[in-house]
Amino acid sequence: MDIRAITKENFFQTIAAHARPWTSDYLSMYASQWQGITRDPDLMVIPMDDHLVHRGDGGFDFMRCVRGKLYQLKEHLERLERTARGISLELPAEYHHIRELIAATVVAGGEKECLIRVTLSRGPGSFSANPYDCPVSQMYINVIRFKPLPPALYQDGVTLITSKLPIKTAFFANIKSCNYLPNALMKKEAIDAGALYSVALDEKGFLAEGSTENIGVMGRDGVLRFPHFTRTLSGITANRVFQLAKGLVSRGAIKEAAFSDISPEAAYDASEIFLTGTSLNVLPVVRYDGRRIGTGSPGPVYRALTDLLIKDMTQNHEILTEINWMMNEKSK
Ligand SMILES: Cc1ncc(COP(=O)(O)O)c(C=O)c1O
Repeated sequence: MDIRAITKENFFQTIAAHARPWTSDYLSMYASQWQGITRDPDLMVIPMDDHLVHRGDGGFDFMRCVRGKLYQLKEHLERLERTARGISLELPAEYHHIRELIAATVVAGGEKECLIRVTLSRGPGSFSANPYDCPVSQMYINVIRFKPLPPALYQDGVTLITSKLPIKTAFFANIKSCNYLPNALMKKEAIDAGALYSVALDEKGFLAEGSTENIGVMGRDGVLRFPHFTRTLSGITANRVFQLAKGLVSRGAIKEAAFSDISPEAAYDASEIFLTGTSLNVLPVVRYDGRRIGTGSPGPVYRALTDLLIKDMTQNHEILTEINWMMNEKSK
């Protein structure tokens, strides 16, 4: 077996020899360690000895830039800071400029429709589990091209199954730590079962959340229910959809929007089920555990909430943050 010696001289040539087509969607990355932004996917790497990599010791959040403006930036940063507090991770000094750094990385990426992933890591230190081996925490900002799900999934709806994997405890469900193995396995489980999404149940048998989605269940009694945010992440989209659903209550389109225990049986009998999340907005579920949900087609509450959410994402200036798209020009 011929094992090559990788050196500084041949490193990039070696990388270039391996096709990695998925990196064409990686627009830009800021790394606190290098204090700079790159647009070259070959440079979008973090050291193996960052405890984020080998222990999952870090936290992240994920937000969207819509038509060149950041949607719900404040809410996402508040949740990121909650995650950091939850795992006692000291915010890196660069975090004080987080808004500026996000904006600069997005502008460097050059696309007005993109996803932004901010990761806080314990930082490089050693290969041990000991966080005190890491002298300085780090921050990485990745900007990724936004590719919406295929329209057919919204037109026809998706299939959901109940997950058989053990659910996270409340502590881990309520922070966005970089320990997403249960979430990754839930996604695998769904795809392996011929579905796209799976939903976890808590120990009492009530619905919790999907791999990276919250769930909403529209009962035949006119009540739209979301699982309590105890065994599920407090989704920024679910919270917003809940607020927007109150508008449907005042219009008389639904009776009530509430947080509640929801059994799978209640969900089987629902008139509509949908998933919510930053990159998918509201996604209708038309089959759950092999049963047809409602009419078997996306329903009116899904459509009304999608319309409200899209309007919110494009026109609600109270929760949209402007970016100075000319900042690159200025620095030239
Ligand atoms: C476990 C989990 N639940 C729910 C969500 C949906 O949350 P949001 O609407 O903030 O994207 C996510 C998304 O990141 C998630 O990772």
